[in-house]
Amino acid sequence: MQSLKVNLPGNRSYPIYVGTGCLDKLGEMLRLYMKTSKFILITDEQVASHYSGVFLPSFEKAKLHLDTIVVPAGEQTKNIETYHDLMTRFLELGAARDWAVIAFGGGVVGDLAGFAAATYMRGIPFVQVPTTLLAQVDASVGGKTGINHPRAKNIIGAFHQPALVWIDLAVLRTLGQRDLISGLAEVIKYGIIHDRDFFAFCEKNRTLLLEKDEHVLSDAVLRSCAIKADIVARDEREHSVRAFLNFGHTIGHALENLGGYERIRHGEAVFLGMLAEARLSTQLGLLSQTEYQRIERLLRQIPLQAVIEGIEPDRVMEVMRHDKKVQAGRLRYVLPISIGEMHIIEEPDPGLVREAVLHVLNDGWVCR
Ligand code: GLY
Repeated sequence: MQSLKVNLPGNRSYPIYVGTGCLDKLGEMLRLYMKTSKFILITDEQVASHYSGVFLPSFEKAKLHLDTIVVPAGEQTKNIETYHDLMTRFLELGAARDWAVIAFGGGVVGDLAGFAAATYMRGIPFVQVPTTLLAQVDASVGGKTGINHPRAKNIIGAFHQPALVWIDLAVLRTLGQRDLISGLAEVIKYGIIHDRDFFAFCEKNRTLLLEKDEHVLSDAVLRSCAIKADIVARDEREHSVRAFLNFGHTIGHALENLGGYERIRHGEAVFLGMLAEARLSTQLGLLSQTEYQRIERLLRQIPLQAVIEGIEPDRVMEVMRHDKKVQAGRLRYVLPISIGEMHIIEEPDPGLVREAVLHVLNDGWVCR
């Protein structure tokens, strides 16, 4: 297995392990690595149907106690009712401060289980075992946890860093094309915001990434996690560089919201948002045409299945005003000024923002 480290102050640094076919080694690892011996694994119905019982032998061998809670799959599970049910189950199980939570699933399970761990008894440790590409390269690293409010996504949450991230690339073999592409949005995003060479790697290996070539995916996951780990270590609470991770997300979140989270998946929204925000950057004179065209070429080569018909640009503008990224009434965009280099812009000309949104919506997503 390969490993990386997220360096944080106050004994909160943690490792990210990346391997292939390593789920059944988790128990032994936790025995060595964690002080606790009692774990509650939280997963969803879909993941449970694929991997039921996969952890038990290694937990038994390591003499660790393991309870499992299965929640329904899907974004709508990240709500206050499921969270409340989890608290009830924790109490029924007699969970105490010396217990830990394992989040085994995609971003929804990671956020929900992480938030349950962050708040139960004012915080117990948790471990991330992400099962989607998106969760492996983004959501499982960095300690953002939370649930949705009917009026706003991820608005109830806490920073709570995991004690360990355990990534098994073999789980990606069963990942559907739409989920793969959703994860690739965040992978390509790392190239644009932070690492020109990695962007070139994504250009060169686009087809292999879409074909789930294990060698190329492994490199992509490791490099993405290394970039995220570096950014989180420099700015854990998003006062500065961590905001760069929001590239494509300001417009993207609004599209995702208007698409009802199903017509447009998170990563698909990030693709659309990155294209619109890169265009905005060019219209503002920050990003050269050549750099824009290079970004556009790669993004447009990814076959999205998002349904964007019927989304009105004025509604997108309206939804963006309620974004978490509004600070003191001012909406902030992180925009590329070249591939690998970002800049934060407050309140750009709304006419240009609308034009960039319209460009993406009008043009559909025609693969080039
Ligand atoms: N997904 C963005 C962040 O972790 O900051």
